[in-house]
Amino acid sequence: MQHEIYLDHAATTPVDPAVVDEMLPWLVDASCCGNPSSIHSYGRRARAAIDLARDRVAALIGSDYSEIVFTSCGSEADNLAVLGVMRAARNSGRNHLVISSIEHHAVLNAAHALTDEGFEVAIIPVSAAGILCLNTLQEAVNDRTALVSVMHANNEIGSIQPIQEAAEIAHACGALFHTDAVQSAPVLRIDVNEIPCDLLTISAHKLYGPKGAGGLYVRTGLKMTPTLIGGAQERERRAGTENVPGCVGFGAAAVISAARREADAEHLRGLTVPFMDTLRVLLPDIIVHGDADARLPGTVNFSVPGVEGATLLMNLDRAGVYASSGAACSSGSIEPSHVLKAIGLVSSEASRGVRLSAGRSTTSEDMQYALEQIVSITRRLQSRERI
Ligand SMILES: Cc1ncc(COP(=O)(O)O)c(C=O)c1O
Repeated sequence: MQHEIYLDHAATTPVDPAVVDEMLPWLVDASCCGNPSSIHSYGRRARAAIDLARDRVAALIGSDYSEIVFTSCGSEADNLAVLGVMRAARNSGRNHLVISSIEHHAVLNAAHALTDEGFEVAIIPVSAAGILCLNTLQEAVNDRTALVSVMHANNEIGSIQPIQEAAEIAHACGALFHTDAVQSAPVLRIDVNEIPCDLLTISAHKLYGPKGAGGLYVRTGLKMTPTLIGGAQERERRAGTENVPGCVGFGAAAVISAARREADAEHLRGLTVPFMDTLRVLLPDIIVHGDADARLPGTVNFSVPGVEGATLLMNLDRAGVYASSGAACSSGSIEPSHVLKAIGLVSSEASRGVRLSAGRSTTSEDMQYALEQIVSITRRLQSRERI
């Protein structure tokens, strides 16, 4: 029997069937076709559906519904947070942005774009375990810092960041704090009143919702310049007719996620901890990336000396195990990961990382099969290397 084992949930998750059920009418029913900005019945029905979805997403992170801005994805929400806050701060004398070196490209490349616009950007290093260096952050912020952006958990190596402390450092110098919680929201409890953050990014397709729906939490009263201009949707923070089925699906996924988050996290830990323990015994030379304790429960990232990540992944794909490097692929080869470089690996080592991310439907049999394949492929590749 051909195996098909999906171990790339950090890239995206399948849509929960209950989410599909809630979305369907908004895709097929004629009476659900209204534009939420229209004042007639169909329009008001669509508006009510978005309002409910906004309530549900807000409940996932403990915010007020009015503080959720729906976007097209997590990348757009990250862009809006970083570009929107910095551009709004331009005339206030604060033109300094601080981010970590392991941010997602949606933050990293937004920061690079701001450099071209004349803003100053400081990039804070992380430890060998992928944890933000708080002392360097403390030294980097000043009274010109408008925003500090530090992700909650890293998408490649799963390391969980000290965002509480980072937010306090940002606030002490009068800066705002943004966190990208795209990877953490499905498995960690998030309450924007406990983490003193001003902006927080989430994405529906990482929590068993549809692709094409994201959200940015924006604390009440915060000033930012929209990145998408046009109509007055989303309280003038993001123009464009709302993606009604996408928002409905996001809301439904948020309800399910809040109800089963702890059980999901426990399930994932039960899969990945024994998996890594056995892998270390069978392949004693593997290098495991990320922090031993402060890590997402379902994500593992490792590399094998002498074995290219792309080669291992292609062989796993042939065996029916679908994993990824966590880093960008171009022309069939893996670009050295900026995250693995940030934790101290040189370019040749940084292209060897392999990320496996388990999900709700992953079983221990799936993990056992993946383990056997990784071990046999690695041994084969290493013995070829030695010839
Ligand atoms: C940490 C993190 N931030 C942002 C994003 C971008 O989210 P989206 O795919 O919804 O644009 C991702 C997606 O992989 C991510 O892992």
